[in-house]
Amino acid sequence: MDKKVWFGLPVFFAAACLWYFLLINRSTVYVPPPPGPLPVIRAKDVSEEEIWRLPSKSFKNVSQIRQVVFAKVHKAASSTVQNILLRFAMARDLDILLPTQGPIINETGSTIRPEKIIPHPLGKLFDILCTHVVYTKQEIGRYFSNSTVRVTMIREPMQHAISALHYYTTVFPQKGYVAGVKKHPNDPVNGFVHHPEDFYPYPSHVCAEPGSYISNRMSYDLGFDADNFAASKKNDSKIQIFVNELEKEFHFVLISDYFDESMVLLKRVLGWTVKDIIYLKVNIGEIKNTSVWNHKPQFDSQTFEAFRECNKLDYELYDHFLPLFLDKIQKQPNFKEEVSYFKQLQERVREFCLESVIEKTLNISESKWSKQFTVSTTDCKLMKTAEKEMVELARKKQLKRYAVLKKILSNSNVT
Ligand SMILES: *[C@@H]1O[C@H](CO)[C@@H](O)[C@H](O)[C@H]1NC(C)=O
Ligand SMILES: *[C@@H]1O[C@H](CO)[C@@H](O)[C@H](O)[C@H]1NC(C)=O
Ligand SMILES: *[C@@H]1O[C@H](CO)[C@@H](O)[C@H](O)[C@H]1NC(C)=O
Ligand SMILES: *[C@@H]1O[C@H](CO)[C@@H](O)[C@H](O)[C@H]1NC(C)=O
Ligand SMILES: *[C@@H]1O[C@H](CO)[C@@H](O)[C@H](O)[C@H]1NC(C)=O
Ligand SMILES: *[C@@H]1O[C@H](CO)[C@@H](O)[C@H](O)[C@H]1NC(C)=O
Repeated sequence: MDKKVWFGLPVFFAAACLWYFLLINRSTVYVPPPPGPLPVIRAKDVSEEEIWRLPSKSFKNVSQIRQVVFAKVHKAASSTVQNILLRFAMARDLDILLPTQGPIINETGSTIRPEKIIPHPLGKLFDILCTHVVYTKQEIGRYFSNSTVRVTMIREPMQHAISALHYYTTVFPQKGYVAGVKKHPNDPVNGFVHHPEDFYPYPSHVCAEPGSYISNRMSYDLGFDADNFAASKKNDSKIQIFVNELEKEFHFVLISDYFDESMVLLKRVLGWTVKDIIYLKVNIGEIKNTSVWNHKPQFDSQTFEAFRECNKLDYELYDHFLPLFLDKIQKQPNFKEEVSYFKQLQERVREFCLESVIEKTLNISESKWSKQFTVSTTDCKLMKTAEKEMVELARKKQLKRYAVLKKILSNSNVT
């Protein structure tokens, strides 16, 4: 036989064995990421040990700002911000103002009923608010120090309305909106923009219903006069006072159309790390190419004016705070550079969390913007966890910690 074959065979087997041990034997074969929206992690998928192990001891850096009130506005990427805040708080054992049940404190008003929230065992003020409650200074002031950083996030109102309409007819259907979609089955987006009246159950509700999910919801969530909504909406001086008060009270009004910029700004001003702000988008109603929702709104100036008039409050908000936000980031040194670093990092995190089945951790090396850090599969799980489940995890951890505190307290009372 040819000498070359005798030499080639062992080499071939050696290579095959090496390949087997390196790839196949590492227990898994490459699995492509699932199509469509993110796989949602349920609370039961995160073990007790994983929640408990979150490294609260390793954050001694007091120069970080850790007291944050986040006024959560519906359908403005607020669940993603909430996820960031909950991870931040859970890792440091901060006191979160949490509902005793479910993910919401009060969606229809600003009253925080004591029996609806988990009280602080030592009667102290809280560090973090990031679940839904209609914002008012007075009520929030009973639970948070005045020096707490106040943050909210808003979005371009037409995008906001369409996104909300999609969400509240598909993910979480509401009767009136569903009826509207049935009237415009091929293009609900333009159906809504041109015939908003088809989407409200009563004529009196068109554009003026307080607490509507699709019109002026952002202003409602931020505490605009709900008792006299229709009349107040026509009162320009009242609207101006509302917007000016928000500007005084909030340290940041972030813009979800500039999500990464918003997170980098937050990181810089609060002294947080890059790891604190990485995220995977949660609670978004993903729209497929073939969906009837995949239409761009088309309108002339007259239609836009009508839409704007209908959503006047939210447009006043947006038109006021967008330039202030853009001005803020303009003044930040090397801001674009950090945002572009962050966007690239986000790609890696996304890829690691959705695709990697071989590596156990993602190692991010030190850079101008960050010390070296790692992202674990537990980090991925938490980033993917849906809103309701995430609040449940935070509650579980906090209740356990409070039970320990109470025990220490009662023991020290006895002796
Ligand atoms: C929400 O706030 C409103 C208005 O302040 C109040 O009437 C209502 O009882 C509150 N709801 C809950 C569930 O706490
Ligand atoms: C917080 O602000 C309220 C009203 O704005 C004021 O009455 C109160 O004294 C302040 N609390 C502290 C601790 O400064
Ligand atoms: C408009 O709002 C201002 C400020 O709240 C109030 O003083 C005024 O009476 C309101 N005007 C009307 C017509 O309701
Ligand atoms: C604490 O935070 C500050 C500001 O973000 C940072 O410059 C410093 O390096 C941090 N110190 C430690 C020990 O992590
Ligand atoms: C859907 O849209 C994306 C981005 O616009 C495009 O890359 C992709 O090919 C489209 N898929 C189909 C099935 O049309
Ligand atoms: C990550 O990389 C740094 C520097 O490249 C190295 O010192 C460190 O040991 C690595 N950590 C892990 C968990 O791989």
